[in-house]
Amino acid sequence: MTTHTSSGDDRRQVHLAAHFPGVNNTTVWSDPAGGSHIEFDGFAHFAKTAERGLFDFLFLAEGLRLREHKGEVFDLDVVGRPETATVLAAVAQVTEHLGLAGTFSATFNEPYDLARKLGTLDHLSAGRAAWNVVTTNNAFTGANFRRGGFLPYDDRYRRAIDFVATARRLWESGTDSTGGAFSHTSDFFDISGEYPLPRSPQGHPVIFQAGDSPDGRDFAAGTADVIFTRHTELDEGKAFYADITRRLARFGRSEQDLKIFPGVSFVLGDTEAEAQEKSAHIRRQQVSGPGAIAFLEQLWGRDLTAYDPDGPLPDVDPDFDNADITRGRVRHVQDPRPVAQAWRDLAEAKGLSIRELVIEVSARHSFIGTPGQVAESMNDYIQQRAADGFILVPHITPGGLDEFVDRVVPELQERGVYRDAYPGTTLRENLGLASHRPEADWQAGRDAAAERDPAAARAEDGDTRTGSEVRADADAPKEPVRV
Ligand SMILES: Cc1cc2nc3c(=O)[nH]c(=O)nc-3n(C[C@H](O)[C@H](O)[C@H](O)COP(=O)(O)O)c2cc1C
Repeated sequence: MTTHTSSGDDRRQVHLAAHFPGVNNTTVWSDPAGGSHIEFDGFAHFAKTAERGLFDFLFLAEGLRLREHKGEVFDLDVVGRPETATVLAAVAQVTEHLGLAGTFSATFNEPYDLARKLGTLDHLSAGRAAWNVVTTNNAFTGANFRRGGFLPYDDRYRRAIDFVATARRLWESGTDSTGGAFSHTSDFFDISGEYPLPRSPQGHPVIFQAGDSPDGRDFAAGTADVIFTRHTELDEGKAFYADITRRLARFGRSEQDLKIFPGVSFVLGDTEAEAQEKSAHIRRQQVSGPGAIAFLEQLWGRDLTAYDPDGPLPDVDPDFDNADITRGRVRHVQDPRPVAQAWRDLAEAKGLSIRELVIEVSARHSFIGTPGQVAESMNDYIQQRAADGFILVPHITPGGLDEFVDRVVPELQERGVYRDAYPGTTLRENLGLASHRPEADWQAGRDAAAERDPAAARAEDGDTRTGSEVRADADAPKEPVRV
């Protein structure tokens, strides 16, 4: 989005947000500065720091079942998974401006229940609620639910689109002072009744999207306000941004209607050399020897505990049919074979041990340098349309954001590309989004996109498949590797 600075220049403004990490492999768990990921003090400190830095929102991911590796709960998951809406409702009470973005699956929730939860959060927070819509791509998670491993791949986004449209109709059903009647029948839902809340301050809570497949991108272009993405390198960020902008046009929308936020980390130092040294140290703490072996096992499909993490890659070939060695984890690699080959080539070319390879291939993009250098390079991403903002994932919880807010935010402000105060009161306003559109308008955009010639649309996306190849691909099994 382009918010003009007070000096009247037309530089795009940097947006910032913070990811409270929870279950993850970025946190340096052994650091004595690290705190609980469940007790409220940690959430409160983190959120207040983000608000002090004038961030748009706090982001919480979601996992509906503890992951398992070789039949045991994945060691990172023993930290626990507090329930997202409850945490955000509590954070709402200790913050005033910060948006509250929670991840909820469209596959394992129901529209009435979730719309009511998010509507309530929007009321409680005076207009700061957001829903990151995910589809959950593994049947293992489904075992925690009545319907079990529920829904083939292609139906998950159909359900997600229908789910969000239904939620929007529920949010719209009442007036500013009362709830109202709703009725919706589709392939996925057959519901009717009274929605029990008046319209909430944002009308519709802000909708985020995080999937990356063509279906996921179209879902974002036709249904969402914000994308949380893993495209974090400058060039791939620019390509992703351009791809989404092209898709938006098909749905009658444009660039300023949707904000793109990659998830990134950062390491600061007084000099660049110091920051680089700190970063290398942090990466070694993030990837222990046993952690490196477990990571490789996920792709290799084999027990590799007999191998030395400081030695070369295993001489045995991966067992690609054993995708269930790790269960419950979302991964975006459809075919593990080229990945294994690329890792072998990389390790050989650079003479890397198992641990060194894992440090290299599992790295999240990190802005490393002095506060001025980090501000400069973040700003460069925004001006070059590789992103609209960043979701920061610090390696220490809850204190890891403080240094960024104290040292990098002023550098961004000095450059005239970061706000000095919150511009609005709702999350939608602070993100620079227009006020909410009625669901009927969203549907009209999706209908217009559906009328386009699918082959022409694919060609615009650089997808050269013929119609029959597309159908064959759609019929092929699509469960991603569960690592
Ligand atoms: C950056 C990013 C973050 C995600 N976070 C979550 C999450 O917290 N919980 C979850 O269940 N799925 C998460 N997902 C999974 C997706 O939302 C989606 O369900 C899955 O990737 C399948 O969609 P796709 O084929 O379009 O990628 C995330 C995906 C991405 C790219």
